[in-house]
Amino acid sequence: MKHSVVYFSPAGSTRLVADAIHSRLTEHGQEVVLVDLRTSRRAATEQSAFLRHPCCLWIGSPVYCDHAVPLVADFIEGLPPALPRSYAVPFVTWGGVTSGVSLAETAEQLRKKNFMPLAAAKVLAVHSSMWRASQPLAAGHPDQEDLAQIALMVDNVIGNLQRAEIAPLDIKVLDYLSPALRADAANKSLAAAKAAMPPLTVDEQRCLQCGDCAERCPVAAISLAPFPTIADDCVLCLQCVRACPQEAFIFDNDAVAARIAAMAGRSDENKATQIFL
Ligand SMILES: Cc1cc2nc3c(=O)[nH]c(=O)nc-3n(C[C@H](O)[C@H](O)[C@H](O)COP(=O)(O)O)c2cc1C
Repeated sequence: MKHSVVYFSPAGSTRLVADAIHSRLTEHGQEVVLVDLRTSRRAATEQSAFLRHPCCLWIGSPVYCDHAVPLVADFIEGLPPALPRSYAVPFVTWGGVTSGVSLAETAEQLRKKNFMPLAAAKVLAVHSSMWRASQPLAAGHPDQEDLAQIALMVDNVIGNLQRAEIAPLDIKVLDYLSPALRADAANKSLAAAKAAMPPLTVDEQRCLQCGDCAERCPVAAISLAPFPTIADDCVLCLQCVRACPQEAFIFDNDAVAARIAAMAGRSDENKATQIFL
């Protein structure tokens, strides 16, 4: 069985989890490719390579506005139907507000593409919009205990794949949200959040046109003309704001941190990493 670990990770937490999956699979002597969806062109090339064989696809996304990042959903959508005996394990990292419907939706999407989901994980990870906050949500995560749970999930999947009859994950277990949070998730999306926000702009007095923001953007949405302009495919990851040595982006950290903390306060989801087997 070949394994592909495919992930998107603007701020690095999902990459940590993907790396942990990759190294555990390697310890088990498995053949693994690790694919970073940083740019869609690269992804398309990698995607065609691994799908020539039945495989186990480990697919990771941050939770953005209660869902997997649309780029990850688009990647799955763009896959041809899986070959028989293909399996999948969705995993998400979330910043202590809510993991929303990200896992349930991704598992269902994979199932529709003929992958049999075998396990899933939601990993608590420092909230990537709060890097300047004095107390970022989920600070310090993913930690060693979170990653130990990931290793356990990999061990379990490998054990399952060696059985004569492979047991699918009952994806109903991913329907874990309270009715209130589920209703919230139905109304939230990255597109709606973007529409509700003023577009990201820079203070031209501060910007040195160094291009650090464009280089850091994981979806190549920034061009210098001569100041940074942000295209519609921006995913709001804020890596540009974070990368800018001049703090030239107009962005109210305190207001964002306060809004996120308030949302976390209203969420009754247990703020912990959880694996589903
Ligand atoms: C635009 C945006 C939306 C987010 N939405 C949520 C959310 O709905 N729930 C949550 O718990 N965390 C949310 N987060 C936090 C991220 O899910 C979390 O920090 C994740 O681990 C980031 O992954 P990365 O480090 O791989 O980029 C959001 C972060 C950003 C930038």
